[in-house]
Amino acid sequence: MFLLPLQIGSLTASVPIVQGGMGVGVSLSNLASAVANAGGIGVISGTHIGFREPDFYQNPTKANIRALKKEIQKAKMQSPQGVIGINFLTAFNHYADLVKVAVEEKIDIIFSGAGLPVDLPAFVKGSATKIVPIISSAKAAVVITKLWQRRYDYLPDALVVEGPEAGGHLGFTFDQLRKKQENTNLSVILQEVKKAIHPFEIEGKKIPLIAAGGIFTGEDIQKYLKLGASGVQMGTRFIATEECDAPFSFKEQYINVSSNNLKLIQSPVGLPGRVLYTPFIKKMENEKVPVQRCLGCLKTCQPQETPYCISEALIQAARGNVMKGLFFAGSSVCRIKKMMTVKELIKELVDSLNQS
Ligand SMILES: Cc1cc2nc3c(=O)[nH]c(=O)nc-3n(C[C@H](O)[C@H](O)[C@H](O)COP(=O)(O)O)c2cc1C
Repeated sequence: MFLLPLQIGSLTASVPIVQGGMGVGVSLSNLASAVANAGGIGVISGTHIGFREPDFYQNPTKANIRALKKEIQKAKMQSPQGVIGINFLTAFNHYADLVKVAVEEKIDIIFSGAGLPVDLPAFVKGSATKIVPIISSAKAAVVITKLWQRRYDYLPDALVVEGPEAGGHLGFTFDQLRKKQENTNLSVILQEVKKAIHPFEIEGKKIPLIAAGGIFTGEDIQKYLKLGASGVQMGTRFIATEECDAPFSFKEQYINVSSNNLKLIQSPVGLPGRVLYTPFIKKMENEKVPVQRCLGCLKTCQPQETPYCISEALIQAARGNVMKGLFFAGSSVCRIKKMMTVKELIKELVDSLNQS
C-alpha cells in the first residue's frame, strides 16, 4: 500500500501514526520525541504532568505548569524537526491554564478528549498550534464542528475517532461496551463520522480523521486507511517500548497479558475504562479508599463520594507501584509479546504496510 503522509494543516508527519497521549507519566517527552523522530506524531500527556515535582501535592497547578514547560521544551530539543503534540483532558479543572502555557511554548498540536473542548479555538487564536478534538460518535463530531464553526469560524484541524477497543477512558456507555453492538464498532463509527462532517468541509479545508482503538499491526492500520482515515492513533502498543516514559515495572505489566486479565470498569470520572485486572482493581470491587489528599483536578469528581481517587491510582502506577496502581490498556494489549524500540516498532508497521 502506498503510504501517504499525515497532513494536519501546515504540519506533515511522514508516517501517518499518532502516538496517543497517555497519562499519568506514560507518554512524556522521551516517548513523544522518539515517535516524532521516527516520522510519526509524538504526543505528551498533560494529565498531572507535574507528578514528579517536589511541590506537586502542595500546589499541583503550579507543579503541572512548570513540568509542562519542561517536557515540551525537552521534546522539541530531542526532536527539532518532528511533530509534537500534547493531550489534555477537557474535564481537568485547570484546563485553560495548561492550554495557554502549551500554546506559549509553541506546541504543534493540542489533542483534547474526555468531554468536548468547546472553547479551544479561542486559546490558539493568532498561533500556529493546531487543535484536534477526540470524539467517539458522529453526533459528537457534528456538535463540536458546528459549534466551532458558528462561534469561532474555525473547523477542527483533524478529529481523532476513538472506538470501543481503546485504552484510557472510553466515550461509550457500559452497556454499549458489554453488548458490543454493531454500531459500537470503530469501522462503522469512522464511516459515520466521515459522512457527517463532509458537509462542513470546504475547498482547501478538509478535516482529516485519525482512527484509534485496538490498532496493533500494519494490517489494522491499512484497514482504517482504506475506510477513509488519514492516519491512526495508537496508545497501548507504545507502552512496551524502551522509550516509553513509565518505569520498567509499569511496562512489563503489558507483556503477555491474557484476556482474562483485562476488565472494563466504571471509573470514578464517570466514564468506563478498560484496565489490567490488578490487585488494586480486585480490591476496589468490594472496598472504597477514601480520598486522603484531593488534588482538585476533575470537574466531574465528587471527592466525598468517589470510591477512590483515580489520579492517585494513576500516579501510583506511574511510580511503578503495581499493588496500588491503575493501569489503563486497550484490548490489543493481549497481542504484546515483547519490548521494542520505537524505531523498530514504526519500521515494522511501515514495512508491513509497504508490502501490502
Ligand atoms: C495507559 C493509557 C493512558 C491513557 N491516557 C489518556 C489520557 O490521559 N488522555 C486521553 O485522551 N487518552 C488517553 N489514553 C488513550 C490513548 O491516547 C489512545 O487514544 C488509545 O490508547 C488508543 O487505543 P489503543 O490503546 O488500543 O491503541 C490512554 C491510553 C492508555 C493505554
